Amino acid sequence: MSPPVSPSPIQAPQHVQDLLTQLHKQSADQEFAISQTKKVISSTVIGDLEDKSPSGNAKAEFDNMMRDKFIALDEDKCQFVYQLITAMGATNIVEAGTSFGVSTIYLALAVAQNKARTRKTGVVIATENESEKAKVARGYWAQCGEDVEGQIDLREGNILETLKVNMPQVDLLLLDIWAAISLPTLKTVLPHFRPGAVVLTDNTVSAAAGYADLLAYMRDPDNGFRNMTLPFSNGFEMSVYLPDLASEKHFQDS
Ligand SMILES: C[S@@+](CC[C@H](N)C(=O)[O-])C[C@H]1O[C@@H](n2cnc3c(N)ncnc32)[C@H](O)[C@@H]1O
Repeated sequence: MSPPVSPSPIQAPQHVQDLLTQLHKQSADQEFAISQTKKVISSTVIGDLEDKSPSGNAKAEFDNMMRDKFIALDEDKCQFVYQLITAMGATNIVEAGTSFGVSTIYLALAVAQNKARTRKTGVVIATENESEKAKVARGYWAQCGEDVEGQIDLREGNILETLKVNMPQVDLLLLDIWAAISLPTLKTVLPHFRPGAVVLTDNTVSAAAGYADLLAYMRDPDNGFRNMTLPFSNGFEMSVYLPDLASEKHFQDS
């Protein structure tokens, strides 16, 4: 007997659903093709590469190799993020690492639907430092239509600069960027978190060494996060920001 198929929570027009299916397939095919050459960049190996925090020539080689790669967030993780945003009624999302904009489509759908339901304002702030990738992403969002395209503020350039200005109070941060830059990114967005904001970080098991500084920071009780590694492939960390936790801890200690 075949295993039961998990239902999808995604509410979207058929042409958007079809585009998402096509983009996830392209991303998976690309990762498979590269895994057949010795330059493996499946998400597990991306973890290994990230762990090495390449610098100098190695970094340039790494960036070159990634320039035309989707490396899209896995479909089940995208569905989970959409479902969580819906449950939270979240309308202000930051996506660290947009690439060709696959996960961004899920964020935009959920935000559009939450805004319609709650009458709140909101935006998906997307970030990408490769201008060609940003251009392609914009093309996919245009294909989806105004409901998706109209939610997204794509900030091109280095994330540590582009997130310094015009930040709303943030409900959720998706960290889907090279591990080495994830802690500085978190610290840039942190002052804008609302209490109860959620941080989702991809590949925290496969790239655990690369994420060591980020995970140590978020797991330090003084920093106010409650953390759980969700059992998706390669790990997907869900952290809830409750800044009063730090004082609660001191209260319990006294
Ligand atoms: C894993 S991919 C994002 C995949 C995307 N979330 C999706 O699901 O389709 C990470 C992206 O982060 C971008 N990136 C890496 N360092 C960056 C930086 N300093 N500033 C902005 N973007 C960066 C890379 O170019 C890459 O496209």
